[in-house]
Amino acid sequence: MSNQSLFTPYRMGDLELPNRIVMAPLTRMRAQSHDHVPTALQAEYYAQRASAGLIIAEATAISPEGFGWADTPGLWTEEQVRGWRRVTDAVHAAGGRIIAQLWHTGAISHPELLDDAQPVSASNVDPGQISVTRSGRKPTVTPRPLTKGEIEVTVADFARAARNATKAGFDGVQILANYLYLISQFLNATTNLRQDEYGGSFENRSRFLFEVVESVLGAVDAPRVGVKISPMHEGGAFQANDETLPVTEYAIQKLGAYNLSHLLLMGNTTDFTGTPLEKLANDGMFHHFRPLYKGTLIANLKMDRDRGNRLIAEGLADLVAFGRPYIPNPDLVQRFAENAPLAEIDWETVYAAGSHGYSDYPTYQSS
Ligand SMILES: Cc1cc2nc3c(=O)[nH]c(=O)nc-3n(C[C@H](O)[C@H](O)[C@H](O)COP(=O)(O)O)c2cc1C
Repeated sequence: MSNQSLFTPYRMGDLELPNRIVMAPLTRMRAQSHDHVPTALQAEYYAQRASAGLIIAEATAISPEGFGWADTPGLWTEEQVRGWRRVTDAVHAAGGRIIAQLWHTGAISHPELLDDAQPVSASNVDPGQISVTRSGRKPTVTPRPLTKGEIEVTVADFARAARNATKAGFDGVQILANYLYLISQFLNATTNLRQDEYGGSFENRSRFLFEVVESVLGAVDAPRVGVKISPMHEGGAFQANDETLPVTEYAIQKLGAYNLSHLLLMGNTTDFTGTPLEKLANDGMFHHFRPLYKGTLIANLKMDRDRGNRLIAEGLADLVAFGRPYIPNPDLVQRFAENAPLAEIDWETVYAAGSHGYSDYPTYQSS
């Protein structure tokens, strides 16, 4: 037994979580290349991590147009639903809970991943990032802006993926609205130059996000829908600017009205010194947003056991998500309970094929 804050049970929306340790979403490139179907290997890997209070599965494309990273899974075909069913059944049989992460990569995709089509985005701005294609890493290209009709279709595609997630046995969904992907490409003033109601003011730039949220809420009840969002300072067109914080504050406050299952907030992924996000460095992110969002807040980024316990005890987070620590520690919960040492990641196998460095990390007893 443990008296750590991380080990107190928590009710998140409709779900009873036995502990507050969340496995963060981790792209691992182990889905079938040709049809984006999750494999039996993925079922084994997730089941090994079922002692987490909650697993957030890796980012999963909502549609062929939203697909944009080699060997990652989808949620638009029946085969993909069946593949995911194998995963959710394995996690549930092992006593766990798992939600799907809904992903549209927008301009981060590449013609090579789209049957030679141009990626879509808010506007025709090359985000200046790297696409992960089947033949390797390539610079992103200039995308084409979505028409208003295509925005409507894309919003509906999010709802279809959410319905498919339910059919596949997931316990809920999370909308991926940060990093460099389509929703962020709308939120970001540098990548969104639209003159219509989806561009300009931060209300307009966040319109796409809220259309997606409302569309997903038409498919899955609010206590099972979460959002991953946070202000970021990345390279290329994603350097933080004076609009980055206000648009995120606006979106997070507005998300508070939907009674969602959770908000996943990442700390600073890069050095914020000298940027408009400087005060959000380290715990600053959680100090800033906790008062603005009353629902369940999951804090993430560079967490360890002590920091996780402290953030919960201080009321700055309800749950704590661990990404990299979950790669080599399938039994992270048990290691935290026993204060056992953590295993290190073999980075060569993070984005590789097969079970090595994926489902063959031993548990503590056997290591
Ligand atoms: C290998 C790898 C894959 C990732 N894939 C995703 C993903 O699919 N979706 C997502 O939202 N974040 C993804 N992330 C970010 C993690 O969910 C997490 O936010 C980040 O690693 C910070 O947490 P940590 O410091 O505990 O690792 C990924 C991170 C890593 C290292």
